[in-house]
Order: sequence, then C-alpha cells, then structure tokens
Amino acid sequence: ARTAVVIPAAGRGVRLGPGAPKALRALNGTPMLIHAVRAMAASRAVSLVVVVAPPDGAPEVKNLLDAHALPERTDYLVVPGGETRQESVRLGLDALPDDVATVLVHDAARPLVPVDTVDAVVEAVRDGAVAVVPAVPLADTVKRVEPREKGEPEPVLATPDRATLRAVQTPQGFARDTLVRAHATVTDDVTDDASMVERLGEPVVVVPGHEEAFKVTRPLDLVLAEAVLARRRA
Ligand code: C5P
Repeated sequence: ARTAVVIPAAGRGVRLGPGAPKALRALNGTPMLIHAVRAMAASRAVSLVVVVAPPDGAPEVKNLLDAHALPERTDYLVVPGGETRQESVRLGLDALPDDVATVLVHDAARPLVPVDTVDAVVEAVRDGAVAVVPAVPLADTVKRVEPREKGEPEPVLATPDRATLRAVQTPQGFARDTLVRAHATVTDDVTDDASMVERLGEPVVVVPGHEEAFKVTRPLDLVLAEAVLARRRA
C-alpha cells in the first residue's frame, strides 16, 4: 500500500501582507509550494503528492510543478481547493487512488521541514498509530485569556503548565480510513487535522518535530526562512 501527501495550498495568506496567494510567494526565488513539495518528495516513503490549489488556480499550479525539477519516483496531482483549510484537505482526500493506506497532510506554509521529520511521522503510522503529529516544546509561557477587542487589556484566566504543552506542526500522518471518517463526521471549526481525529475519540500521538518546520505566517517568517535556506547552502 502506498503513502500519499495532501498539501493544502489554497490559502490567501492575508497575515503575510498583500500579494500572491501565500503558497506561490517566493523564498530565495522559488515558490514556497515548490519547497514544500520537494520536502515531501524527499522521503522515499512518499509515492504521491496531491497539491490542493487555490479554487481558480489549479492550471497555474500545474504549470508551476511542471516547470520545476521534482523527484521522478513520485507522482503529482493538482486539485482545486475550497473556502476553508478543512474543505481543501477533504477535496485532496477525495482525489486519492484506492491503493493509498497512509496519508500525510502538510501545510504549504511549512516549506522547510526536514526529511527526517517526514520519515518519523510515516514510520509511526506504519508502526500502528492512527494519527501522528510532529510537535516541539514551547519557548513562551502561554496564558488563557478572556478575548477582548483589539488593543484592550485582556483578563488572564489561567496559565497552563508549559511542560505539558506542545506546538504542533505538519506533516501530520494518518491511517487513511481514520482521516476520511474524521472529515466526513466532524463539522466543528478546527485548525489542524489531528484535532478532528481526537473528536472521533481515536488516539493521537506526538513525535518530535523540528524548529525548521515552522509555519511561514507573518513577514518576519519570510526573513527567517530565507536565512535557513542560506545556512543550508553554506
Ligand atoms: O491560514 P493557515 O496558515 O492556517 O493555512 C494553513 C495551510 O492551509 C496553508 O498551506 C494554506 O494554503 C492552506 N489553506 C487551504 N485552503 C484554504 C485556507 C488555507 O488550502 N481555504
């Protein structure tokens, strides 16, 4: 049975400032999405990559993949995405061929995840976990607050013990049937796929993530990403 990756890349990237959809912005001259596709195809376990493009941008994304050198042992598919990340992932899952048993979901916005992290996630699923997420300890102390209007002081409600918290990254890995069932049943707004599996009552485990798997969200993250690429080249 094969392992496939779904890459949701249909977001606008509003927090990054004005410009092209986030996944199509360049890092050192190469679109973030291409970096992300290469990061997934670098794993020998991965035999199919499904890119979920902006709803009207599938032809453009297809051309982009054709224009860049990618590993030949991997197949590539492009499908149009939806209004939300959740919908985009579901559209990617719908495109998977029957022989795929393990599915990774990886944000285009995490272009620099090392191959060792990808392999660790795949291995944990193949060892029997139905849902696996890479994660790192937090540097910051985290507080739960009562949200107020922007700029207004917010009352603190609690400070969870930092040692028990993890910041979650992607690729997240799943037994295909479990993830498909989660996307068919869970309708709440969630920010990652593993939390949908949690709603099913299925176990989710954490494996070590990597600092280079950070999400490019704000303008400063672009500076950091280009610095990481420069360091790799040095
Ligand atoms: O907005 P956020 O950073 O959480 O987006 C995470 C990933 O989900 C990005 O790779 C983005 O392109 C993708 N996404 C999507 N479809 C949407 C919204 C976001 O594929 N409608």
